[in-house]
Amino acid sequence: MTGKIVDVNCKEEDRAKAEKGADIIRKGGTVVFPTETVYGLGADAGNDGACSKIYKIKSRQQDNPLIVHLADKESVGKYAHIENVRKYKELEKLWPGPLTIVMPKRETVGNVASAGLDTVGIRIPDCNFTRAFIRMSGTGIAAPSANRSGKPSATMAEHIMDELDGVDLIYRAERSRIGIESTVIFPEGDSCKILRPGAYTEEDLLKIFHQVTYSGKDDPVRSPGMKYRHYSPDKTVLRADAQSLLDYLKEHRDVLPIVTTETAKFIEGDKIVLGSLSNPYEISSSLYDSLRKLDASNYSKGIIESLPERGFFISVMNRIKKASVEL
Ligand code: TXA
Ligand code: MG
Repeated sequence: MTGKIVDVNCKEEDRAKAEKGADIIRKGGTVVFPTETVYGLGADAGNDGACSKIYKIKSRQQDNPLIVHLADKESVGKYAHIENVRKYKELEKLWPGPLTIVMPKRETVGNVASAGLDTVGIRIPDCNFTRAFIRMSGTGIAAPSANRSGKPSATMAEHIMDELDGVDLIYRAERSRIGIESTVIFPEGDSCKILRPGAYTEEDLLKIFHQVTYSGKDDPVRSPGMKYRHYSPDKTVLRADAQSLLDYLKEHRDVLPIVTTETAKFIEGDKIVLGSLSNPYEISSSLYDSLRKLDASNYSKGIIESLPERGFFISVMNRIKKASVEL
């Protein structure tokens, strides 16, 4: 894979480096890029052949649409009917950021990227380098998370190098700052549905909408992707609150604990430390790497600490629950 990796910094718009990836995108290739949530595996959203490569590289189900990533607010109207979204002006203020808005799509979004739906999820990521790369590509970049389908999303370029074959270029930056995928919403007039929880929470959205609901299992409006197995490490992960976890460890030695800094103090043996409860992004940004470390360890299973389900931790727990079974 070496030779295809270019080191970048999310704070800087390095135009020479951005041009390399932009050229590949214009020619119908695939590029992995960093964002504040997780890394994306991108191709030209208007090029069906290029987008098909993404599904192949990831082994992704064909009916699961891709998010279209844009560099600037000015270009959103080229891909989506923003005039049909009543609260668009308020929502737009949350960009660049970890928010994907599902809107009626325009023809510029290819059928492969949108998996044949008449809507498109749009996001402007909060990484200056990546936005420069998108801008220079001259097109919207369709991109799912850069992991094999079913695996935890990649928050470090190293995760991708181990896992994905056939990518034309990988931009390597620091670990993703947030570390779980964007909040995906479906706005309908004064109400909004959360299709996937993320760093923008229900409370944040209630400042814009009268009503905010979570899309349920039998909801006709839901993300196709939510029905697939997600975020799972290969090994079994148990889940328990801090006290039950510590009690369990007294009886069992063959399990690797994944815990907060606060709980780690009480564990003498091997452990993976997520970060402190007082710094939620420290925890969320290390979650997927911790699950991958468990897979790479000599332990046959892990046990992860449940977080208090408030605010942003509701979203982090959504991912933890998908990766684990309750003790
Ligand atoms: O943070 C993120 O959103 C990352 C970075 C790379 O931007 N991307 C990401 O993409 O997580 P992906 O493909 O792994 O997850 C996108 C989710 C899927 O569950 C998909 O079904 C849903 O968003 N989605 C995309 N377009 C949609 C649409 N038009 N309607 C409903 N759900 C949609
Ligand atoms: Mg994904």
